[in-house]
Amino acid sequence: MRFSRGTYAFIATLGGSSMMRLPSIRALHPTVVPTMMMRHSTRVFLSSSSSSFQAPEPPTSKAQSIFPDVDLTASITESARQRNSDPNAVFLVNGSSRGIGLQMVKSLVERTQGTIVACCRTPDDPTSPLQQYLQSLSPTLQERIHTVPLDLQNQTSIDALGDYLKTTTTMHSNNRLDGLFNVAGVLGDGSTTPGPERSLARLERQWLEHTLQVNLVGHVMLIQALQRLLKSNIQKEDRPTSVIVNLSARVGSIADNELGGWYSYRMSKAALNQATRTMAHELKRQGTCAIAVHPGTTDTDLSKPFQKNVRAEKLFPVDFTVDQILDVVDRIDDTHTGGLYDWAGKAIPF
Ligand SMILES: NC(=O)c1ccc[n+]([C@@H]2O[C@H](COP(=O)([O-])OP(=O)(O)OC[C@H]3O[C@@H](n4cnc5c(N)ncnc54)[C@H](OP(=O)(O)O)[C@@H]3O)[C@@H](O)[C@H]2O)c1
Repeated sequence: MRFSRGTYAFIATLGGSSMMRLPSIRALHPTVVPTMMMRHSTRVFLSSSSSSFQAPEPPTSKAQSIFPDVDLTASITESARQRNSDPNAVFLVNGSSRGIGLQMVKSLVERTQGTIVACCRTPDDPTSPLQQYLQSLSPTLQERIHTVPLDLQNQTSIDALGDYLKTTTTMHSNNRLDGLFNVAGVLGDGSTTPGPERSLARLERQWLEHTLQVNLVGHVMLIQALQRLLKSNIQKEDRPTSVIVNLSARVGSIADNELGGWYSYRMSKAALNQATRTMAHELKRQGTCAIAVHPGTTDTDLSKPFQKNVRAEKLFPVDFTVDQILDVVDRIDDTHTGGLYDWAGKAIPF
């Protein structure tokens, strides 16, 4: 089953949704709940982001994470400094057509010196926000961005991307990947799509499978296809630690699930969190860190159907969100690998 860009554009115009009764926007960002349910402080979170947006402090969980927080006031790691300043470094973003993925491409262009491989289903669509952004760049910056088609539901497409990265000679550097950002995701709007489901009765096999294909299976198979390129072989080649960043959501936390609902999405993100922790054990040996990240409720097509009751100060501009995520990524080391983190670097319990 494939849902077109047109479908997304249509659902994004739907302001209110009957979905608001159950987990609704709280599931995207649990600070949006009636006061009596709030456990978080109302103190404004002091961001290290360059964006002027001031987010409220993220909520605390009842349960404890087994991982340490990432301290955003600390300096970036030596590995991050090397990755970001190396013109031969390669970063890949899937879901780069719009939303958080597109902003990730923009921010990586600014924060790093390397090549950015921007992947999405229709990278050459001249009307897409990705192409419009590319056209606005100088030729020198355009050269740093390679657009490659990728459909996460299609294994041939995933394999072809792996082959491209291993063989292309048009990039500054090939046979190497320093950062893999798995951003693409689907949630649905609960009205033109079965998900996000408010009850077991609303579950539909096809939608559940579709959600798992995009949010879980595609990412994991892509990581498998690119594993060798991420190997940093620190002793032999002196490459810094590489990073895998899987865009997850707080609703994937089983410990934090106090409302139910949103079956397909929650299950896909919980499984992605488990995949992240499982691969982190294995990939530590090859000098790769992997984390799952909750971006916070961000102003994109995905959250649009649920934004009606979100207060302005709780809806993150996409540049703020991505700055925060990259600030977290630049400070992770072996102690954080496998963890689930929010945009402020706070560890979320599984
Ligand atoms: N926005 C939020 O408030 C929020 C909150 C928590 C978590 N997240 C997570 O953050 C990530 C990014 O979300 P977003 O807000 O940026 O969403 P978005 O604006 O709706 O963008 C979704 C992206 O996923 C891509 N995609 C969908 N199906 C695909 C497929 N089969 N193969 C390849 N790409 C596919 C879309 O490509 P097309 O353009 O081709 O459709 C698009 O690039 C998601 O994983 C989401 O779950 C977001």
